[in-house]
Amino acid sequence: MATPVVLTLILLPLLLCQSIHLDIHIPLPDGCLKYHALRANRLLRQASRRTFGGGTTATAAADDDDMPMPTEEVNLFSVHTPHITLYLADFDLEVSEISRSNNNEPGALPLNDTKVSAFMDEISSINFTEIILSTGSMECPITYYSNDAPSDTYYIINGAYTMLPIAKNPCLQTLSDTILQYMKSYLRHPVVVPPWVAELPEPSRSSSIYRCREYGSPNVLEGFDPHVTVGYDPLSSLRLGTMQNDVERSVKYSPVNNREGNSLSNSNSSNRANDLQWRIDAMQQWNEIYWQALSSGNYCADEVVRGIALGKVGVGGTVLANTRMGYWDIGPPPGDQI
Ligand SMILES: *[C@@H]1O[C@H](CO)[C@@H](O)[C@H](O)[C@H]1NC(C)=O
Ligand SMILES: *[C@@H]1O[C@H](CO)[C@@H](O)[C@H](O)[C@H]1NC(C)=O
Ligand SMILES: *[C@@H]1O[C@H](CO)[C@@H](O)[C@H](O)[C@H]1NC(C)=O
Repeated sequence: MATPVVLTLILLPLLLCQSIHLDIHIPLPDGCLKYHALRANRLLRQASRRTFGGGTTATAAADDDDMPMPTEEVNLFSVHTPHITLYLADFDLEVSEISRSNNNEPGALPLNDTKVSAFMDEISSINFTEIILSTGSMECPITYYSNDAPSDTYYIINGAYTMLPIAKNPCLQTLSDTILQYMKSYLRHPVVVPPWVAELPEPSRSSSIYRCREYGSPNVLEGFDPHVTVGYDPLSSLRLGTMQNDVERSVKYSPVNNREGNSLSNSNSSNRANDLQWRIDAMQQWNEIYWQALSSGNYCADEVVRGIALGKVGVGGTVLANTRMGYWDIGPPPGDQI
């Protein structure tokens, strides 16, 4: 049911060119949820090595052992931060185009320190503790949930993406809404509405276009659909014909693609007949482990938001772990300190 909405989020940043997109997000706290996100990512990476490994060279395998490079691009162990996006958009923080030397080379402009510090001051002026208290809770709970209740499936595979849905609640929604209200004035204008949004069925088409124009993202307000991305594999999604154009563009224009040599040109489509199936197999394995743990009690149920962070967006709507620009701690609720 939530599938089309979830899909929209992650394609958006990738379709929009070379400017730097920033993600205001909840980093998963150390604990049960993060453990299972890493576990899902590891299973996907392992499965993608097994499935496609034969084609890559030994030098490309310098990753961690003699195994071939995984085609799974998300690496929650060293490159990317497991997170829940609250607001991701193309903010106008770069130096002006005029100050760039007169060439047409593609690539992101450097950030303008003045604009960035105003942006950071704006986020810092938000009292996150107060927002959480205003929703009637002392803390903001985060938990995985199954959007497919009868079969207890705690993951979604959609195109290139594998995601773990997070249960929506008033606290998460209010955090996202509030950040949006504070930060929307920093958006780059005019906002480019990606063509695929125009192809959504009504009524989501009109409302998504509206949210894009107004907020730079369709995945805010009623489009907010929290999740943790654990996989992004554009090669695999090529089998899903309707997405092909978007995926090609997302690979071409993704803000950070330091593995171009391992990109589309190397794909051998006849090897990839089971592209979707290997991911389903890996995630079913994950789901089984998670579900077993859940059924043994109140498992993974007591986690809360510990802080909000700002970072740069990498492939597949991921957040690059080494680009964190700020972190705002949310302590224990008042009265909870000893
Ligand atoms: C940086 O931003 C400030 C404030 O908007 C502006 O006055 C200044 O000209 C910008 N500098 C560059 C190099 O774009
Ligand atoms: C944020 O709000 C909480 C709860 O209302 C309050 O106790 C705290 O002093 C506020 N922090 C700042 C920096 O204003
Ligand atoms: C692609 O895979 C098929 C089947 O494994 C193989 O016959 C073919 O030679 C491969 N093509 C390339 C360009 O690697």
